[in-house]
Amino acid sequence: MAKGKVDALLGIVFGDEGKGKVVDCFTPKYDIVARFAGGPNAGHTIIFEGKKFVLRSIPSGIFDEGKLNIIGNGCVIAPDLFMAEAKELEAAGYNLKTRLHISKRAHLILPTHRVLDRAYEVAKGKNKVGTTGKGIGPTYSEKAARTSLRVGDILENFPEKYAALKNRHEQMLKDLHYTDYDIREEERLWLEGVEYMKSFPLTDTEIELHKALKAGKSVLAEGAQGTMLDIDHGTYPFVSSSSTCSGGVCTGLGVAPNAIGEIFGIFKAYSTRVGSGPFPVELFDETGDKIREIGNEYGAVTGRNRRCGWVDLVALKYAIALNGVTQLIMMKSDVLDTFDTIKACVAYKKDGVITEDMPYDTEGYEAVYEELPGWKSDLTHLTSESQFPKAFQDYIDYLEKALETPITIVSVGPDRAQTIERA
Ligand code: IMP
Repeated sequence: MAKGKVDALLGIVFGDEGKGKVVDCFTPKYDIVARFAGGPNAGHTIIFEGKKFVLRSIPSGIFDEGKLNIIGNGCVIAPDLFMAEAKELEAAGYNLKTRLHISKRAHLILPTHRVLDRAYEVAKGKNKVGTTGKGIGPTYSEKAARTSLRVGDILENFPEKYAALKNRHEQMLKDLHYTDYDIREEERLWLEGVEYMKSFPLTDTEIELHKALKAGKSVLAEGAQGTMLDIDHGTYPFVSSSSTCSGGVCTGLGVAPNAIGEIFGIFKAYSTRVGSGPFPVELFDETGDKIREIGNEYGAVTGRNRRCGWVDLVALKYAIALNGVTQLIMMKSDVLDTFDTIKACVAYKKDGVITEDMPYDTEGYEAVYEELPGWKSDLTHLTSESQFPKAFQDYIDYLEKALETPITIVSVGPDRAQTIERA
């Protein structure tokens, strides 16, 4: 962490890497924690002092009373879901109103965006993306089409602006022959959420960040989703609609590339994916089921089963290069404690051709593996690297060598305390 710099903490595969826990461990080192992309499609689970919280739009620095938290311009925000999330934190005793600033340039997810999300999925039929249904795609589409509403819009003539956009959406839904929906109750809460949001500082967070960086403050940019869900670099069209990579930190917070310091890439000791789309390392057998069960791999937002497989070095190498990852953080190592052998995907294969580079489209590729011995012991009680079983240390060394990037933090359990920094 350097003064006057923005460090980024990014999920570098398909999301759900456990960013929430790490960012929460990191916050004591930083002055500001900022979200730069995505919205309530994210679900960052944080467990500490026996309590479990799932954050969707609010940065994970919110638990640390002394920190400023920012929802940046690159985010999309649903006022009703934001209100529910914020009120739960307030009820648990956290003071949000002065410590959470929302960019006036962030875009609003309307209830009708969520209906459009569902309608588009239905229209796609068997090619559906398997979205979280939170209206992410329709909102970012309208941002690009320059027809969307921003947080700053709620401060002036909002009822008229809202009615105009809602009418437009209703027409779009009619055109899609998707008319069987009722948003009345949702809309009531949404409008209540809009009023509630006005009690927060709605600011030019970009300028706040410029001033903070100039004054030598340190910023942690908290990623959402993962590199393989990036709108440009992910497994398009089975992606989310925002820039989840380190480039997105600049556009999503309004900070310059030369303000970026460390880039922490976070991954799990194995792979998961939620929703549709190609996933060459997916295991359809009992090993996959076992990883899901031990790792509790069920979606934090939708509760869906996550698809599971071994660690994917093709995806990780690609993500490290795209993001400029300087340090790796490996999560959920303990999930593999009971396996006799551990596999790592080192290449993809299709029609007899083997590649170590991420293909344009991974559909139809199968994984080529190398096999390593399992460590067959409980990692959850370990507190330092010197206690690592040899086979686990070998697994880390193997990954570091293949990925040419140091793994500086290893997580061995869900609690904050089960996080081991390596020398
Ligand atoms: P959307 O972001 O709701 O449009 O969903 C697009 C794709 O991204 C779907 O496959 C989702 O399952 C996936 N996705 C979105 N957010 C997350 C996340 O936070 N973790 C993992 N997958 C996500």
